[in-house]
Amino acid sequence: MEHGFVRLLPSGPGDADVLSLYRDVDRPRPEGRPWVLANFVAGLDGSIALEGRVGSLTSAADQVVFGLLRELADVVMVGAGTVRAERYGPVVLDDAAQARREARGQPPVPPVAVVTRSLQLDLTSRLFADSQTRPLVITVDHVDPDARRAVEEVADVIVAGETVVEPARALAALTERGMQLVTCEGGPSLITLLLGADMLDELCLTVTPLVGGDPLRLVADEPRLPLLRFDLAHAVAGGRDELFLRYVSPRPEHDDG
Ligand SMILES: NC(=O)c1ccc[n+]([C@@H]2O[C@H](COP(=O)([O-])OP(=O)(O)OC[C@H]3O[C@@H](n4cnc5c(N)ncnc54)[C@H](OP(=O)(O)O)[C@@H]3O)[C@@H](O)[C@H]2O)c1
Repeated sequence: MEHGFVRLLPSGPGDADVLSLYRDVDRPRPEGRPWVLANFVAGLDGSIALEGRVGSLTSAADQVVFGLLRELADVVMVGAGTVRAERYGPVVLDDAAQARREARGQPPVPPVAVVTRSLQLDLTSRLFADSQTRPLVITVDHVDPDARRAVEEVADVIVAGETVVEPARALAALTERGMQLVTCEGGPSLITLLLGADMLDELCLTVTPLVGGDPLRLVADEPRLPLLRFDLAHAVAGGRDELFLRYVSPRPEHDDG
């Protein structure tokens, strides 16, 4: 088995079939907004970065899950801090993945949507200069007009707040564009924003058996979040002694677990 995936919960055969646990599940769209899924990898100590990058926290097996969650997405949402730290490029999918998307009625590749207040983005980067699908920039009213005009040359701009992006406005704007599934790739500030608004429906978490990464965890230190509980929908072992966990928010309409 290439990645040695073993289903722990619910039990069943391993490897390729494991991906159906991510793919073939209901994600009922909440009223007025898309389903929001976040995908993270973290060490045993909860660290989500090594020297400022995801780097060696991830693995080939984790990248299979990462790629699938991109393939399923109508839009890949990411905070500008992660875009800068990881030097984000556009989503790239192979021909088979693009064909599967088209069969599902989706465009071949989902756009990346960057959440930013500062508009401090490298507009010459591959994300903006070399994207098969025009990126989105989700920002606020109070921005430098010249910076905004420059961004508009290379991306569709969504204004979703006066001085900070409000999740409800951002997600409503994505709904208006027909987007039903948001895959959010972090980082901590953006996830904290979504959790603070109780708008995170699913957390796909890869636990990798390392300790000693950066003192940076999945959520930001501020603002302090209310306690929110999630239900375990599946657990899979595989890769380099990793655990692949899928948690869903226990709202009445979520019944795929
Ligand atoms: N292990 C993992 O799975 C994983 C995943 C993702 C990221 N990471 C790591 O996380 C680190 C980056 O963390 P981060 O907290 O800086 O990243 P982030 O959440 O990706 O980005 C923070 C930025 O998002 C924008 N933002 C956040 N909330 C906003 C709001 N309400 N309105 C408008 N803009 C808002 C701001 O951009 P502006 O400054 O442009 O205004 C803010 O500086 C990196 O080390 C990265 O490697 C790890």
